[in-house]
Amino acid sequence: MTALLTSCFAGFEEICRPDAPLADLTWYRLGGPARWLISPRDEAELAAVIQRCRAQGVPWRVLGRGANLLVRDEGVDAAVIRLSAPHWSAVDVSAPLVRAGGGADFTRLVRSTLDQGLLGLEALAGIPGMLGGIVRMNAGGRHGSIADFVESVRVLDPAGQVADRPRAALGFAYRHTELDGCIVLGATLRLSPGDPDAGLARYRAIWNEKYATQPAVSERSAGCIFKNPPGEAAGRLLDRAGLKGARAGGAEISSKHANFIVAGPGATARDVCELIERARARVRETTGIELAPEIEIW
Ligand code: EPU
Repeated sequence: MTALLTSCFAGFEEICRPDAPLADLTWYRLGGPARWLISPRDEAELAAVIQRCRAQGVPWRVLGRGANLLVRDEGVDAAVIRLSAPHWSAVDVSAPLVRAGGGADFTRLVRSTLDQGLLGLEALAGIPGMLGGIVRMNAGGRHGSIADFVESVRVLDPAGQVADRPRAALGFAYRHTELDGCIVLGATLRLSPGDPDAGLARYRAIWNEKYATQPAVSERSAGCIFKNPPGEAAGRLLDRAGLKGARAGGAEISSKHANFIVAGPGATARDVCELIERARARVRETTGIELAPEIEIW
């Protein structure tokens, strides 16, 4: 069986693991294995992996920090690609522009740009992820989103070509981009030179504000489960529907913020899915509003 599995990726043995557990690569620490987990070391190797996937008819997905993701208990029957090799986390500062790889840790990037007197990203304090995932979903919060800072994004496009796309071509909207089928190799951000202490103070204030209203980032969640519908807050709707504290197995709708589902001991991905469906149905019944998931479910 293993021989058959690996034969799809013959020649990539150094970077490809068959039947690789994914749970510990996600914030939820839930879910089954990937049929293949592949960590390309540079752009050429990534392009070759994608070409092989195409030739073999193997579907592929990109895993970042797994902070906005729920992997189902059955696992993922696909090649899961992870830009975790050192190449992908390179950061090159040419103030006020910062070019960073898609695998750059976002929290670290926020801190290091602030330390260098480049302000802006502190607006996104407390959002975990790899830069690629942050860009792909246009992550953000009440103080802004990554779209506010992106000049251009370097992608491997669906045709397998490396291309630089300017911000106008990215289709940024609320938690949305037009980057489907693309792999974010890196992004160029435009920040604002300023006083590092002022930036750090704002960073701390935003962290504290989040901590006061949301489960801690150390808890097992995927952040907000649903997108905010136009003119409404999903958290408020879920709260009003009486869902705080609702449980399924080891998963619970947070009593601190109703748009978070936190996994406790013994939780399974199925528990989280069950709560998502229950919450969605209850809001539909009580308000007529259909909530759309913000998290990815594999
Ligand atoms: N609210 C309730 N009950 C709750 C939660 C919220 O009544 O259980 C009310 C609040 O009182 C407030 C309103 O709902 O009046 C909005 O709540 P909040 O200010 O907490 O912001 P949010 O809209 O729920 C958004 C983002 C968060 C981001 C915060 C802060 C979405 C879906 N969520 O939350 O992003 O951290 O603003 O910037 O856009 C995420 O994307 O994963 C995420 C957590």
